[in-house]
Amino acid sequence: MTLLETELTATTARAPQRRCSGLTDESEHIAVRGCHVLGRDSLGVAAHVVRTANYAAERDPCGYQRVMDAVDRQLGVLAEAGIERSPRPRLGADGRAHLAALNPVLDEWWGDGPAPEGSEFQFGYLRRWRDQVPSAAALWPLQHPGDPVLPGARGAIPNADDWAALTHTWDAIGIRSRGAVVSALLRDRFADGGPRAWLSLGSGALSPLMDAARELARSGSPCMLEVRDGDERALSLAETLSARADVPVFTQQQDLYDLHAIERAGEGYDLVDLVGLFEYLPDEPMFTGSARVPSASEMLRAALCATRPGGAVVLGNMRTDRPHLDFVTRIIQWPYIVPRSLEELVAVIDQAGVARERVTLHLPDDQVYAVATIEA
Ligand SMILES: C[S@@+](CC[C@H](N)C(=O)[O-])C[C@H]1O[C@@H](n2cnc3c(N)ncnc32)[C@H](O)[C@@H]1O
Repeated sequence: MTLLETELTATTARAPQRRCSGLTDESEHIAVRGCHVLGRDSLGVAAHVVRTANYAAERDPCGYQRVMDAVDRQLGVLAEAGIERSPRPRLGADGRAHLAALNPVLDEWWGDGPAPEGSEFQFGYLRRWRDQVPSAAALWPLQHPGDPVLPGARGAIPNADDWAALTHTWDAIGIRSRGAVVSALLRDRFADGGPRAWLSLGSGALSPLMDAARELARSGSPCMLEVRDGDERALSLAETLSARADVPVFTQQQDLYDLHAIERAGEGYDLVDLVGLFEYLPDEPMFTGSARVPSASEMLRAALCATRPGGAVVLGNMRTDRPHLDFVTRIIQWPYIVPRSLEELVAVIDQAGVARERVTLHLPDDQVYAVATIEA
């Protein structure tokens, strides 16, 4: 082997590990405090664990422990009773009634009557919250413990147990850390000035992007933020937040399964955001009624078509090795979501034809979500 070959081999072998960026961020409920390289060479992509601090739990340690312990016990009960996620989404008031009839634990969470004897919690608002699942609005209280009611949701007053469950479950923790990591990544990447164009697909409540765009605008690096989503209410929420944050947003209602509409954007964006949409897409395309649901890798390919060279796609996926995975499946019964192991996530990215050198995984240390950036 020549000296040059040796150097190239060493570079290739080390390359995935060298991009551990020192992300930092601090907000009311969470801090991001740098990272360390994940020691799993088998992944073949740059991967680092992002250290986080959960201020919501630090401020309310007893409430946090109570929720964790109670949910742990309840998941044991549901596992023993063989309760799994229904293959048919059980949504709205009928869905709650169906779930409540299945088991006393689900009755405690979603039933309309008084809490069954021996209940761990006495919920009120939580039932109305579930009626928002799987829309973006359901993420709002998890992301905003200090402001748990969706802007404009009149008359909704969470009680102490509602607040504790919406704030302290692993899903809430993971949604906040995912958002903080995305926000910090964008601020880090786009802090060098000049207007930038961002496209968010399946924007939902848009909170992480809005937070980053507001900070960047304040420091002289404004972003043109465009949002496409099929849900009119998600778009109107994005507009409310845009007015609140003073960040202009262009909204467009669109069926995101129509990949041609995304590809037609033609390398126009510095950033395409798939966080929150990607994990709803299957490994292989699927047909449901008249709709063709694209695979996650097809969506990634389309997003890359809309990203200019030098730009990036950011995406997220719930992890299968996360704590309390069965909270999502057995208690919330959140439909469509496809949790993936890190290896499965890398395989889906591979399937989009992306070279591994272009991929970096950012893994909040609570292990609930993986965030990936893909260089275009
Ligand atoms: C869970 S939310 C994502 C939230 C947000 N990106 C975040 O991470 O906070 C998923 C969003 O994708 C949108 N969505 C899902 N499938 C869609 C489709 N086929 N066409 C358009 N929008 C879709 C939903 O309306 C929803 O707002």
